[in-house]
Amino acid sequence: MQQRRIIFKHIDEPGYTNDLACYQRNGGYDVLRKAVARPPAELIDEVKKSGVRGRGGAGFPAGVKWNLVDRKSGKPIYLVVNADESEPGTFKDRYIIHQDPHQLIEGTMITCFANNVKQAYIYIRGEMPEGARILERAIAEARAANLVGPNILGTGYSCEIYVHRGAGAYICGEETGLIESLEGKRANPRIKPPYFPAVLGLYQCPTIVNNVETICHVKHIIDMGGEAFAKIGTPNNTGTRIYCVSGHVQRPGYYEFECGKITLGQLLNDVCGGPRPGRAFKAVIPGGSSSKILRFGETFTLKNKDGSTRTLAVEDIPMDFDTLAACGTMGGSGGVIVMDDTVNMVEALANINAFYAHESCGQCTPCREGSLWMKRITARMVHGAARAEDAALLKNVADQIPGRTICAMGEACAWPTQSYVEKFPEDFGNYYETKKTPRPAGAPQLV
Ligand code: NAI
Ligand code: SF4
Repeated sequence: MQQRRIIFKHIDEPGYTNDLACYQRNGGYDVLRKAVARPPAELIDEVKKSGVRGRGGAGFPAGVKWNLVDRKSGKPIYLVVNADESEPGTFKDRYIIHQDPHQLIEGTMITCFANNVKQAYIYIRGEMPEGARILERAIAEARAANLVGPNILGTGYSCEIYVHRGAGAYICGEETGLIESLEGKRANPRIKPPYFPAVLGLYQCPTIVNNVETICHVKHIIDMGGEAFAKIGTPNNTGTRIYCVSGHVQRPGYYEFECGKITLGQLLNDVCGGPRPGRAFKAVIPGGSSSKILRFGETFTLKNKDGSTRTLAVEDIPMDFDTLAACGTMGGSGGVIVMDDTVNMVEALANINAFYAHESCGQCTPCREGSLWMKRITARMVHGAARAEDAALLKNVADQIPGRTICAMGEACAWPTQSYVEKFPEDFGNYYETKKTPRPAGAPQLV
């Protein structure tokens, strides 16, 4: 399978460095130069035509989001680039920032110019200090070259970019939690709807929040035109996607493919080299830990447009937003986590539950208490104190959470438990007896 490297075009090329001189030698900032000579409305239109969907996880069309910005309020419009990449299994934004920070800065400046933004913030995850330093240095280089700051490229248009470091909380990646944090407050997500950041965001002003990868795509959309971009990938799932594959494959890593043109099986077998010697795939999380798990061997019957149906095995699922959603999970943030037959799903879930219980901001009772109870139950199971009713109890707790919370973390913390318990009854149902049986050779030691 041939990758279609657009964002990763130069990344990993021998001799490609992350400084301004190298970026410009490779055509860097040429698109910004052309963009600032065009009417901003035309740029927004290109992004709309491209159909690009948000790469942070929700897959909301970026052009639609830009169109929803309140431009009549007279208030400043802000851009916030969400670089708080915290979804377990997701590490693409960090790689872009480390390897090609100017690509992100160019996309940011084009987005700002298109939307008449004068101040942009790149909110970077606290655990990425190196990324923050690289960005600061790159912004300083761009400022010195008159590509960021006052009167860029002599156009009369001025725009500053600020890097803001988070302090290591998952919930700061939720856009309204992030905005609260940027305002200097605790990152408690806000209730939405009715007011989305596009209308009332940072400092109660209209704010565009886009993910790092989405912003990088903006540069390429303006370069090739929205219609050309829309021809890449598949209808409604346009452009390329970066998949970060981790876990039990022979070649984990970052791979960029046309959205929906590669199946999960091709990605894991042809690209990532298949399972480790002597092992078989057991399960895969297709879009970050919040997405529902897929079990190898299960099948999905989907409706075609003409009313007929087709049956897909896990390996056959095209890696796009819509098909993954139709299979009851999501493309999410592109973090693909693979588990082979050495993994006991109770132990995998215990790990994930500990994460969500730690990261709940605590505002909503179902998320705060539910995530804690799910953590306690799976923790006692793996520590030898499982009870016969634990699987049913886990499901009961998880079922009370989705749809009853302020932010999507309610779903994020419940979906793993719901799907693991439902799809791996042999691991959960009798865990309390099988616990005494020997663990498969090669399985990691329990802490
Ligand atoms: P969402 O579906 O509520 O919103 C998506 C985006 O569309 C937001 O920017 C929202 O403001 C905008 N939007 C939606 N309807 C709108 C309207 N009517 N008017 C204006 N704007 C509107 O999803 P959310 O909560 O922003 O993101 C959830 C996803 O985030 C999860 O599915 C998960 O995949 C992902 N995620 C990613 C992480 C990462 O590290 N990349 C971490 C945690 C979660
Ligand atoms: Fe906080 Fe969880 Fe409620 Fe989100 S769902 S606001 S993380 S308590």
